[in-house]
Amino acid sequence: MTQTYKALESAKIEESNQLNIVERNIKDLPKGDLLIKVQYSSLNYKDAMSAKGMPGVTRNYPHTPGIDAAGIVKESQDKNFREGDSVIVTGYDLGMNTPGGFGEYIRVPSSWAIALPKGLSAKEAMSLGTAGLTAGLSVHALASYREYIGLSDTKSIVTGATGGVGSVAVMLLSKLGSEVTAVTGKNDQLDFLSSIGASHVLSREELAETTRKPIGKSIWDVGIDVVSGDILSLLLTSLKPGGAVACSGLVGGHSFESSILPFILRGNALLGIDSVEISLEAKTHIWEHFSSDWKINLDHSTKEIVLEDLPDEIETILGGGQVGRVLVQL
Ligand SMILES: NC(=O)c1ccc[n+]([C@@H]2O[C@H](COP(=O)([O-])OP(=O)(O)OC[C@H]3O[C@@H](n4cnc5c(N)ncnc54)[C@H](OP(=O)(O)O)[C@@H]3O)[C@@H](O)[C@H]2O)c1
Repeated sequence: MTQTYKALESAKIEESNQLNIVERNIKDLPKGDLLIKVQYSSLNYKDAMSAKGMPGVTRNYPHTPGIDAAGIVKESQDKNFREGDSVIVTGYDLGMNTPGGFGEYIRVPSSWAIALPKGLSAKEAMSLGTAGLTAGLSVHALASYREYIGLSDTKSIVTGATGGVGSVAVMLLSKLGSEVTAVTGKNDQLDFLSSIGASHVLSREELAETTRKPIGKSIWDVGIDVVSGDILSLLLTSLKPGGAVACSGLVGGHSFESSILPFILRGNALLGIDSVEISLEAKTHIWEHFSSDWKINLDHSTKEIVLEDLPDEIETILGGGQVGRVLVQL
């Protein structure tokens, strides 16, 4: 077996971070009971934050980002995994302070890995990646909240709709029979949004005109929000009685304002979504859905790239320009 591997590395030079493709030695990877040859990774907003040295993600540099990896087990010290097994690793510390999926090899604790479900390829799994997992967890949270009524024939709203989490959320809600309104800042992506299942598209300004604080018309049964800030405030004013919003992101800011009115007059709920530290069982449950009843085809909303293309894609995602998903082939 080869002893060296290729990786994208972020190094802090004075006040900024520089990205380079480097060769590293497998023996220098951290301890862990699974050595995995990465076949595919994907680009998430958090990877871009780590790569650029933004606060709150990665403490020590040089570092290889990549919170997602799908690949083949090369060495295992856990009897539940054997050499040649196909696995998915997302979240926990991967790509945060543990070298991540933007390298050809990772070594991780087996408690971070799930067997790739039958019916899902490594490429399909990483086309979804953490963004897809988060969209799936959001849908699952909303469906559980609406235990007796379900999601079919609902009216839903998705923010950051052209991005990673948003685009998968639009596809999944529409597959499950919901009439989806997509909120976007990209006026030139209407065709893309309708091609992935959006029935209506609103600009961020139109959303502000449609809703009213502290409480407005009851419009949507459920919402999936990745933006936070004023957009989340507006969603909370416009849910139907019993409606809920699942929130996972902060591209529009850390904080948002609300009033007690939607919660006590309409029994609305705000459901927080974490895809990183949740149990392996919870992650497995969502991946199994994606391999069976939630199977969606992401071919037309996924751009496939190699490590060398990542620096440009990182700039695009941080600038809010992401459309669909970016799959990284190693
Ligand atoms: N909780 C978790 O476990 C978890 C997991 C995954 C992601 N996240 C978070 O979810 C967020 C989205 O992640 P992602 O990977 O989907 O990112 P992404 O691909 O960049 O998508 C975000 C989208 O939000 C919209 N947007 C960007 N900047 C905005 C702004 N200033 N105001 C309003 N809308 C803006 C854009 O879509 P439009 O142009 O269509 O509006 C953008 O494409 C990030 O904050 C990420 O950290 C959290």
